[in-house]
Amino acid sequence: MNSFVYNIPVKVYFGENQLIHLGEELSKYGKRVLLTYGGGTIKKIGLYDKVIEEIEKAGLEVYELSGIEPNPRINSVREGAQLCKDKNIDVLLAVGGGSTIDATKWIAAGACVDFDPWDFLSKKVSVKKALPILTVLTLAATGSEMDNGGVISNPETKDKIGLGADPLLPKVSFLDPTYTYTVSQYQTACGAADMMSHIIEVYFNMDQDLYMLDTFMEGMMKTIIKYAPIAMKEPDNYEARANLMWTSSWAINGFINGGKQLAWSCHPMEHELSALYDITHGLGLAILTPRWLKYCLDETTVSKYVQFGMNVFNIDSKLDDMEIAKQAIHKLSDFLFNTLGLDNNFTKISIKETDFEIMAKKSCGGGVLEGFKPLQQSDIEEIFKMCL
Ligand code: NZQ
Ligand code: ZN
Repeated sequence: MNSFVYNIPVKVYFGENQLIHLGEELSKYGKRVLLTYGGGTIKKIGLYDKVIEEIEKAGLEVYELSGIEPNPRINSVREGAQLCKDKNIDVLLAVGGGSTIDATKWIAAGACVDFDPWDFLSKKVSVKKALPILTVLTLAATGSEMDNGGVISNPETKDKIGLGADPLLPKVSFLDPTYTYTVSQYQTACGAADMMSHIIEVYFNMDQDLYMLDTFMEGMMKTIIKYAPIAMKEPDNYEARANLMWTSSWAINGFINGGKQLAWSCHPMEHELSALYDITHGLGLAILTPRWLKYCLDETTVSKYVQFGMNVFNIDSKLDDMEIAKQAIHKLSDFLFNTLGLDNNFTKISIKETDFEIMAKKSCGGGVLEGFKPLQQSDIEEIFKMCL
């Protein structure tokens, strides 16, 4: 077991009506607030009015940036960063899903520098500081509410790049499961697939395991398998929404890493799909993950699949190891494509084979995609072909 540092200093208000603490928390960081949100869902669900009420009650000044896109674009980040400078903003409040929160993180960094915020991502310029960020989460999926990462698309260069930096970590996140009652069946399914992938990327990895964390991850995967279908059938089931929401945060907040030398595989591949085709992140992951698992299965890796199959899907331990592994992949596919009802191949979502070469090349940066199994461009192209 490797040594590690555990430091996740995000204050979380979890549960119904926690928004009464919003004003007091924002006030700690200044007077001038930039409220950021997406395409207007927060207005439809009445959350916008509640947020404004709390901000006004606290006597704060509020400015707005709306229209942040799913797969958020660099232009929204540029616009937000400029607004922060023009209005001398003290603190940012992101209200929405992962896209709104991610864009807000890079706005917060962009507000503190004189150069184009895209340079942070494209040139890997390190983030020295950022304005403080608070979040109100409306969709359980990415975990952006409790991690330091943010993923931004640039349609001009056809890039989608994600990076993390500690100054981007939200100071406070409000997690009220009732705000996710209106999330569609499709977005609920995509969110579940995303969380599942965040765990699988860590669980299936090349570095040493920590039994306690493996068991924790298995528990979270079982939680998603149990509650995602319930949330899809009964959108206002509090227990289901609450379990999914807290799992979204803990799947990616760093806790499960436990010192592993991490390298993710499906996410770099998926980001290239989203960059070129603007598909929903969780959908791309759902299609890729079972194929990637199949591709990486051999005598050297099978034991991890056995553990996964037995502990997550209760597959009979008396079966041959390879058989358990294959059944585990089958059960995962069944969950993603039948239970969650997500499209199960690239053809259905119009992803073309002619783009495989460029997407595979960009996924591995022209070199090797380190991970559970190191993948070269040709391996990634094979995995893409399995997705057709
Ligand atoms: O735009 P609005 O009106 O807010 O509508 C959104 C959007 O259309 C809607 N929605 C959000 N909350 C809702 C709701 N609809 C009804 N009721 C509600 N309560 O859902 C749609 C999708 O929203 P989005 O924020 O795009 O979804 P998600 O949270 O899945 O975020 C996806 C983005 O996060 C990135 C992805 O790549 C993608 O760009 N990721 C961020 C990560 C991170 N920061 O750590 C890690 C992830 O792996 C991921 O890459
Ligand atoms: Zn993800």
